[in-house]
Formats: sequence, structure tokens, C-alpha cells
Amino acid sequence: MPDARILVVDDEENVRHMLELTLRREGYRVTLCADGADALDRLRTTPFDLLLCDINMPGLDGMGLLRALRPLGRNTGIVMMSAYADLDGAMETIRAGAHDYVAKPFRRAELLFALRKVEERRRLQLEVDTLRAAAVSADSFCGLRSRAPAMRKIFEQVRRVAPFRSTILISGESGTGKELVARAIHDTSGRGQQPFIALNCGALPEALAESELFGHAKGAFSDAGTAKVGLFEAAHLGTLFLDEVSDLTPALQVKLLRLLQEGEVRRLGESDSRAVDVRVVAASRRPLDELVAEGSFREDLFYRLSVVALHLPPLRERSEDIPLLLEHFITSLAAAMGRRPPTIAPEAMQKLNGYAWPGNVRELEHAIERALLLCDEDELRVDDLPDALVSSAVRGPVWVASDEPSIKRATEQLERLLIQRALEQTGGNRTAAAKLLEISHRALLYKIRAYFAEATDDPETGDG
Ligand SMILES: Nc1ncnc2c1ncn2[C@@H]1O[C@H](COP(=O)(O)OP(=O)(O)OP(=O)(O)O)[C@@H](O)[C@H]1O
Ligand SMILES: [Mg+2]
Repeated sequence: MPDARILVVDDEENVRHMLELTLRREGYRVTLCADGADALDRLRTTPFDLLLCDINMPGLDGMGLLRALRPLGRNTGIVMMSAYADLDGAMETIRAGAHDYVAKPFRRAELLFALRKVEERRRLQLEVDTLRAAAVSADSFCGLRSRAPAMRKIFEQVRRVAPFRSTILISGESGTGKELVARAIHDTSGRGQQPFIALNCGALPEALAESELFGHAKGAFSDAGTAKVGLFEAAHLGTLFLDEVSDLTPALQVKLLRLLQEGEVRRLGESDSRAVDVRVVAASRRPLDELVAEGSFREDLFYRLSVVALHLPPLRERSEDIPLLLEHFITSLAAAMGRRPPTIAPEAMQKLNGYAWPGNVRELEHAIERALLLCDEDELRVDDLPDALVSSAVRGPVWVASDEPSIKRATEQLERLLIQRALEQTGGNRTAAAKLLEISHRALLYKIRAYFAEATDDPETGDG
């Protein structure tokens, strides 16, 4: 593979020199190190395709380096170089994670053959990992279950763009699966073995935000007793998931934009920048383009983040997924509780299918978890479902559901359903529901009293 990056570690100057010449001529990008400790530092920060390492070195030797490398989880192809006399040592390095070894003195062809073999194996492994992660059955993708065409299209897009470093913006209501999609991107990107770091931008205290994201040098400010690696550096070679990105302060928006443009971070209190290779995936519940129009989110950052934009539809717009998700959560949650999955009583099924699920998949997951705790051995019944769900009206085109001949009474039915739905959507907030229904607060209270026979002495108690 031309262009492969190789790190050569040997304490002997002339060996390094000889290897550099040989490997450069073959098209490798060569970096040289004279000892194990230096090599480890470089491997921590730079993705190498191959490591060619001497076993016997003063200080951190080949075995020591292999051991230190393991927890980093790098998928670097490793070839060790041993002295003739030390075949036992060479075998030991294989057990410690090296892929091959060559005995010194070796011929050029022998070395190149070993490197190519390891490289090929590494490439295949990467391909297998990626394919395995991306494997789609008829209705699932990386742990995401769906048979809705809009979601299948998103899975397809994820598969196509995941291997590139382009930033991806995921939008969608709460609980629609934004974080799960971000993980699917990571798992299918070829970065799956590297860190996935999720950051909730809204939970970031303003004062700490910068050092949290970019890190700081020791003594950069009064509390900085030790140096700190920022999240961008920690996610090096992997993926950084910026959740609720709309919550970033204007100052941080500028910093993030610069970082995305330049691909390097500067720790607070340091003058040099460090190059980072991080895939950024951002998510927002609130439509970012609206926030841009409103002036609270930078337009340039919006464009930088939304190179690829994925919108996850709410569950009520993909009702074909409800039975699929029910089955999925009943099976997996029952297994986690060590019990048999119950069947769903027909009436309960009707309620589950007819509900609008304002909290989307998360709400459905929680409803099932709760029902499993409450229901008896074999069957999940309406009584086991949350109240909001049981009292909810049937969704959908209500005029079709009505076979009432009187316009007056059909209109009342319709009003009743619309009011119920509006209250569900607003979590019972009557002021907001009135707005949604485009009637006055007073008119809404009047109708609630009329249709639901409810006393509303204190008109404000329902708002919250
Ligand atoms: N298509 C799906 N298949 C299986 N599980 C799903 C699916 N979508 C979401 N989930 C599950 O629903 C829950 C909520 O998903 P997730 O956290 O990804 O939502 P979100 O969009 O990030 O929500 P929020 O905006 O509230 O952070 C998680 O437990 C997730 O595993
Ligand atoms: Mg989330």
C-alpha cells in the first residue's frame, strides 16, 4: 500500500538509516525513533499503519512497548525485529500482540514481504469490522431498529458517509435516536476501535467549557495544578459527539469553528497547537437553521457542521416502527430482567399503536420497562401502561373514525380529540395547548369543563 505510515524503532543509528532508505524507496511514509519511550509518545498521538520495532533496546524495549501499546487499542500492524539468537523472544512478542517478526540480519525482500502481509491482514480486519458493524438485517442497523423508508434512507446515508471525516449534523425530536445514530456513524466509520466521546454542550459550565474542550497547560490558571487533555485531544482518531450543540455559547461557537477549519487544538496557556484527527458529529433537538435565522447560532458554524444533515422523523410519523420496537424492547428488557417476554393483550396493543409518543422511542422504551415491572407472568395489559397512554385519544384522521351523523356532535368529538392531543403534546400545559389549538385560554378551559366534566376552579393549576 503506497503512502502507508510506518514508525521504525531501533536504537542503532545505521539500522534506522538503512531502513529509512529502503522503506522510502517503496513509497512508505517513514518516521524514525531511537527508543521505545519516544515511540510510545508518537503512537499515542499519531495514527501509524505499521510499526517496525526492534526487540532489544535499552530503556523501554520492544516487549515493553507492545505491552504499553495494548491498552491504547490502536490497530497498527506490528512487525518485530529480533536478533538471530532470540527466536524465543520473537515468539513471545507474537503472543503479546505483534503480527510478525523478522530475524536480523534480514534481506530486503524478506522484510517487505512481512510488512505487506501484515498490512494486508490489517486492511482485511478493518474491512471485516466495518462490514460487521454495518451489517443490515431487514429491519436493523447497528442496533437501530426500523423498517420505515425514511429511516432506511438514513441508514443508507450513514453507511455511505461514515468512512469520510465530514462533519454530520443530526436533528430530530427528543428520543428519536440521535445518539444511537451518532454511534452507528462511529461504528461504521473504520474508527470503531478508537474513542467515541459524547459531550452534552448544554451541561457544560461556561467557566470550564474551554479547558474541558481544548485542555490546558499546567498553571494556565490558578486551579490548574496539572496539565489537562481536552476532549478533542482525547477523541483523537475517534469521534466526538457534540450533543445539544445549539447550547454552545457564542464564544465557544467561534472556537469550535476555528478548530474545525484548522484541525488543530491549542491548550489554554500553551502557544503551540496540536494536530487532531477527530470526526465531529453534532446533534440538536431544535432546528439549527431556525436558530441561525433567529441570530442565536452562527451561520458559518452551521454550514461547517451540516456538511451532511440527517433528520430523524418522530415516531408518530413512522407508526410501522411501533410494533417492531415493542417487540424489540419487550424481548431485550425481559431478558435483562431474567424473565420470559409476556404477550401483549389486544386492547393494550391498540393503545400502544394509537398513541402519539411525544417522547418518541425513549418514551416507548420507558413505557415497556415500566409495564414489564407491573405486569404478571404472561400478559401485558392496558392497566400496566402509563396513564397518559391509556387516556390518550386515537391518533390519525379523526373524521374517518367518527360515524356520527350530526355535525354538531361530530364537531364536538373532533374538538375533544384535538384538545386531548394538544394537552398530550404540551405535557398538560393549558396555555401552550390553547396556543396550539389557536383558541383563547378561556375558551379552552370552558371546553375542558364541558367535554371532560372537570372542575376548573383554579384555571392555572394545570399549567406547569
Ligand atoms: N431505532 C431505534 N431502535 C432501537 N432503539 C432505539 C431506536 N431509536 C432510539 N432508541 C433507543 O431510545 C432511547 C433514546 O435514543 P437516543 O438517546 O439516541 O435519543 P436522542 O435523539 O439522542 O434523544 P435526546 O434528544 O432526548 O437526547 C435510547 O435508549 C436508544 O437506545
Ligand atoms: Mg441524546
